Amino acid sequence: MKEQQKNNQQEPLRFLVFSASLRADSLNTRLIKLAAEVITKNGGIVDYANMSEFDCPSFNQDLEVNDFHPTGAKEFRKRILANDAFIISSPEYNGSIPGLLKNSIDWVSRFRPQPFQQQHGLLMSASPGMAGGNHGLWSLRIPLEKLGVHIFPAMFSLSKAHEAFSPEGKITDENLTKRLEDHLINFMNTVEASKNYPAIKLKFLGE
Ligand code: FNR
Repeated sequence: MKEQQKNNQQEPLRFLVFSASLRADSLNTRLIKLAAEVITKNGGIVDYANMSEFDCPSFNQDLEVNDFHPTGAKEFRKRILANDAFIISSPEYNGSIPGLLKNSIDWVSRFRPQPFQQQHGLLMSASPGMAGGNHGLWSLRIPLEKLGVHIFPAMFSLSKAHEAFSPEGKITDENLTKRLEDHLINFMNTVEASKNYPAIKLKFLGE
């Protein structure tokens, strides 16, 4: 019986989490750190990355000689493949995806097998604006979905983010804190279903 229980125990889910901002006092970094806490509290394992680890030179196809891939792209690929899913909190720049993030995605897309294929991703954003940078996430979905990522349908965007945090880095609004937790737990459940329940995977996740 004990052995059976042991066999039934599932491995904790692993999540790569990072903010797509390089800024020291980034609102998106504050938000992703909160997300990381929620994941850990709910039994997941967090692999926390800094965007600087994934930053790459401007993409130029002429650089692709002798199987060249920049260090940032190699690291991004490695961390995607080492985890069950990824969560990005990304700034919105001019209504769209930050150039440096798109640049890193483009570089990673050049590996074969293509590493984004069949991954699970959750998108978040934070901005001082009223829409919380949500428009930019619609742009971010496009390359990731094109590359085969299952992007979670719901997205979390923190509006007026410059006023949203306590000095300790928590979101002061209790309803928003609860929404963030529910959002992350829903995503964790989807990733768990995909990883551990192949029948559900076929029927409901379209994989
Ligand atoms: C911005 N910002 C911004 N905000 C927004 O809600 N919609 C937008 O389209 C833009 N566009 C934009 C362009 C550029 C070039 C910059 C530098 C900034 C403001 C942005 O949300 C704000 O600077 C955030 O604080 C950036 O995120 P981090 O670095 O705090 O995570």
